[in-house]
Amino acid sequence: MSIPVLTFFNNKGGVGKTSLVYHMAWMFSEMGKRIVAIDLDPQANLTSAFLPEDQLEALWDEDTALEGARTVYQCVRPLTEVGDIREPEAKQINSRLCLIPGDLGLAGFEDFLSQEWPNCFGSGARYRPFRVLTAFWQVSQLAAKQHNADLILADVGPNLGAINRSALIGSNHVVIPLAADLFSLQGLRNLGPTLRAWRSDWQTRVANWSQPAFELPTGSMQPVGYIVQQHTERLSRPVKAYDKWAARIPSVYRSSVLDEPPEAIAPESDAYCLARLKHYRSLVPMAQEVRKPIFQLSSADGAIGSHSYAVTEARTHFRALAKTILGRIEVLA
Ligand SMILES: Nc1ncnc2c1ncn2[C@@H]1O[C@H](COP(=O)(O)OP(=O)(O)O)[C@@H](O)[C@H]1O
Ligand SMILES: [Mg+2]
Repeated sequence: MSIPVLTFFNNKGGVGKTSLVYHMAWMFSEMGKRIVAIDLDPQANLTSAFLPEDQLEALWDEDTALEGARTVYQCVRPLTEVGDIREPEAKQINSRLCLIPGDLGLAGFEDFLSQEWPNCFGSGARYRPFRVLTAFWQVSQLAAKQHNADLILADVGPNLGAINRSALIGSNHVVIPLAADLFSLQGLRNLGPTLRAWRSDWQTRVANWSQPAFELPTGSMQPVGYIVQQHTERLSRPVKAYDKWAARIPSVYRSSVLDEPPEAIAPESDAYCLARLKHYRSLVPMAQEVRKPIFQLSSADGAIGSHSYAVTEARTHFRALAKTILGRIEVLA
């Protein structure tokens, strides 16, 4: 039995993917779920949100990296030679949450993944290409089993490259963070067809290996819904512009991601809109400084007066979002 994987995905950067994975990982664990977070972005922003610099330095130390299994890249790297996946040594963040750290070296795995994609066909051996293409999924499943996890959360970089294709074929569920602007709408138009192509390409590959030698992910990539960031627009551009783009999201989401007829629905009553995320202003750097989610900030961290009210409000919002997501994916329902 494999553990479900939920990925926050958009080929656009700066829409809050990493911040959402970080906050949802903490919130789900507070709610009693056991979580493995995996950082599949070679920029490793999720990892630096969780871990202080001295720990990052030790993780990425060149002298020990070759032998280690502390980052996702260290776990999959033996595949580039003659070895197999290494069992990850995930970082414990709290009693119910652990992290498989990212690694800047992961960028070097991208070409290798591209090369193996066509090798699932033809007359050659199947074992190796399937092992490579599912490596991230295998590593996260190993960590999830070790830690008895209920759910795996994955953070990815902002592109439609081979690393993300591998991340997505290992995803059961996908949440799409968005901003209400032209770029996000354009991005969404590319994203939906790409997800559908990856899903069907993976199914064709799996069907071509009649007796797999190890478990393979289903590549279902079920769209759970989208989350609209309110922050950038509300601060830097008129509300009218935000409303104009926000009004188009429900229809584009339906046609592009769900392959359904476009339907003009008011964004506030769209069932696929999981949340509209507030701008948390000065709480953001305050929380980053102490490496905590916004909703755990205390007066000792500087969250006093109106800040303390905003922290309580953030907890309510993130909890509601976590409940909505869990309800949709029915983890341990
Ligand atoms: N709700 C929020 N309020 C204020 N700032 C936010 C919020 N969510 C994310 N940010 C900030 O916006 C920037 C981009 O967010 P990030 O999560 O890194 O996006 P992505 O992973 O999609 O590139 C970061 O500096 C982050 O701290
Ligand atoms: Mg990110």
